[in-house]
Amino acid sequence: MRHKRIVNVASVPQLSPFRYPGGKTWLVPHIRAWMRSLPNRPALFVEPFVGGGIISLTVAAERLAEHSLLVELDANVAAVWQTILGGRAKWLADRIMSFEVTVESVEEEMSKAPRDLRKRAFRTILKNRVYHGGIMAPGSSLIRHGENNKGIKSRWYPTTLKKRILGIADIRDRLTFIHGDGLDVLGEHGNNPDAVFFLDPPYTAAGKMAGKRLYEHNELDHERLFEMTASVKGDFLMTYDNASGVVELANRHGFDTEVISMKNTHHAKMTELLIGRDLSWVRVPTEKKPIQRLLFDEEEREGD
Ligand SMILES: C[S@@+](CC[C@H](N)C(=O)[O-])C[C@H]1O[C@@H](n2cnc3c(N)ncnc32)[C@H](O)[C@@H]1O
Repeated sequence: MRHKRIVNVASVPQLSPFRYPGGKTWLVPHIRAWMRSLPNRPALFVEPFVGGGIISLTVAAERLAEHSLLVELDANVAAVWQTILGGRAKWLADRIMSFEVTVESVEEEMSKAPRDLRKRAFRTILKNRVYHGGIMAPGSSLIRHGENNKGIKSRWYPTTLKKRILGIADIRDRLTFIHGDGLDVLGEHGNNPDAVFFLDPPYTAAGKMAGKRLYEHNELDHERLFEMTASVKGDFLMTYDNASGVVELANRHGFDTEVISMKNTHHAKMTELLIGRDLSWVRVPTEKKPIQRLLFDEEEREGD
């Protein structure tokens, strides 16, 4: 297993309204390469753990598959997708544009229990933007100082959010969202030879506990996920923490693995494990690929 070069995401349009913990914007160039390596354009792209959805959104926007199926278990995250794809995108965008962010207004919004889906969607977007690291799981806290002393507003870009939300609504005929368990949907579509699967499950490496801190739903039967994935008819791509237990699981199912590198905003080099049936598309000869450096955090390119 070799380490692949670092990816430059300068060419990746940021389409998601979320700043998602564990978001995969940096993986987009690899997803494009994977999809283009397939013999046919898939009829269905299934993302059972969709989170902020940058991969499915890119697949839909760039027509890399005919249709994308997005699945998420978290009811708050689901509310955003259901609102945007259910014909209420403009309401959400207008609500974002008219909301004045202050510590008081945010605290008041968070203290209410929204019963209506649209309001729940708004609260999710707000929380995602004004809590540390975009973390919406219990235990996360409000940004009080933020970047450049912009405080609570340092990640609140209403015009950008509006543009992204309306942009998703524009392509909603290519997107279907299911609020449910990704494993069930994987099982339902596993027999479809024209479906491909992108799997980015919550993962809690032993001793790391990253998944616990980042997501409300972080427990998953990984053994079962691997077993089910082994029997899908179409192609698949999984991404995981580069942990030895995961490599063993992949080897046991006869899957191919490849470690790829990325850099975060602080220029710390990180690695991620890709798992698939045949990852030879990642191993394109070095001289044919330009040397790519610097992966910057998507937030650096945000702003109104
Ligand atoms: C690593 S994140 C996905 C991030 C996503 N790829 C992105 O770029 O934003 C994993 C997601 O799976 C969700 N999740 C956890 N268990 C799930 C389940 N059984 N079914 C569906 N989604 C689940 C979590 O709420 C979380 O949003």
